[in-house]
Amino acid sequence: MPCYQISVDGYAACGKSTLARSLARELNFLYIDSGAMYRAVSLFFLNQEINPLDKNITSLIEELDISLSFPNNESRAIVHLNNRDVTDEIRTQQVSNQVSQVAAIPSVRKKLVALQQKYGEKNNIVMDGRDIGTVVFPNAVLKLFITAEMETRIIRRKKEIESKGREATYDDIKNNLKSRDYLDSTRNDSPLKKASDAVLLDTTNLTRKEQLSMVLALANCRIH
Ligand code: DC
Repeated sequence: MPCYQISVDGYAACGKSTLARSLARELNFLYIDSGAMYRAVSLFFLNQEINPLDKNITSLIEELDISLSFPNNESRAIVHLNNRDVTDEIRTQQVSNQVSQVAAIPSVRKKLVALQQKYGEKNNIVMDGRDIGTVVFPNAVLKLFITAEMETRIIRRKKEIESKGREATYDDIKNNLKSRDYLDSTRNDSPLKKASDAVLLDTTNLTRKEQLSMVLALANCRIH
């Protein structure tokens, strides 16, 4: 039986992952955070002290082993990089500052898109990212494109960082979000953009519960 894919794309810190995770839980689908894979590649470059813009990285990328596991059927995956659990390490500011550069490299995208498509072949999934509705699953049963005002995004990201016991200033977060938006939407390979058949959702003035009931209604119309 063919599987259902739901894509959730949009700018950083718009509430994509919270919404995608809750939607997956409600539908009993797998939730996959494709950004975590780009973060794992970025962490690899940082740990190895390799400049990601170096021309000779293609073979290194081909050999990288990135995988996800879903312990106890939890909707949040454990991220493995060369058989090491890097789920927490990929969330540091250092990785956030570099990841958009890494995500613009075509050989990185080629490898990770193939991996993402493999997960979607065998599972009903909700996947969030930047190019899921445009490139990874162009035939997704439902495509969502999430936006929110910059101020709201900064406050949400600050709370998220602080809830993990880390610190980041308002200005650091703002600069990081702005530069990632710019890099993600202006790169040549698979830039962030709304698929023409995606539903646009501005979450600025919506509670999480309101967002979820809206997208759940849409998903139920498309799936049943
Ligand atoms: O969702 P996130 O902020 O964790 O994503 C990290 C980076 O990876 C982000 O700057 C854009 C990039 N990314 C991408 O280019 N394509 C995806 N499908 C997912 C993430």
